[in-house]
Amino acid sequence: MALYSEKVMDHFRNPRNVGVIEDANGIGEVGNAKCGDIMKMYLKIEDDVIQDVKFETFGCGSAIASSSMATELIKGQPVSEAMKLTNKAVAEALDGLPDYKMHCSVLAEEAIRSALEDYNSRKAQQT
Ligand code: FES
Repeated sequence: MALYSEKVMDHFRNPRNVGVIEDANGIGEVGNAKCGDIMKMYLKIEDDVIQDVKFETFGCGSAIASSSMATELIKGQPVSEAMKLTNKAVAEALDGLPDYKMHCSVLAEEAIRSALEDYNSRKAQQT
């Protein structure tokens, strides 16, 4: 059996939503101290709905595939739904990751949550 699913390979080779959103109103950056990989998420949110999302990942193939899939899963979603995204859902959407690569999907969950928290705190400051 191949180590990585077709979906992982597809999202690794052709990652969706790579880049920066200049006028993002939610930004999150997380890293994994063990492997040194870093993931940054940019969100453009209007009326509590994620209109656009982009990412920059300096990391392994599974981290790139996980970030790409995670952005696809939350695009167009309300903030409240995106908050519920788990690394398990990301890994499942990729048709699985090897056990020792599950932490890569955790990075995607954490990056999105961090960007959403940034959005919520900016919003709280405006009121
Ligand atoms: Fe660290 Fe993949 S090896 S995120």
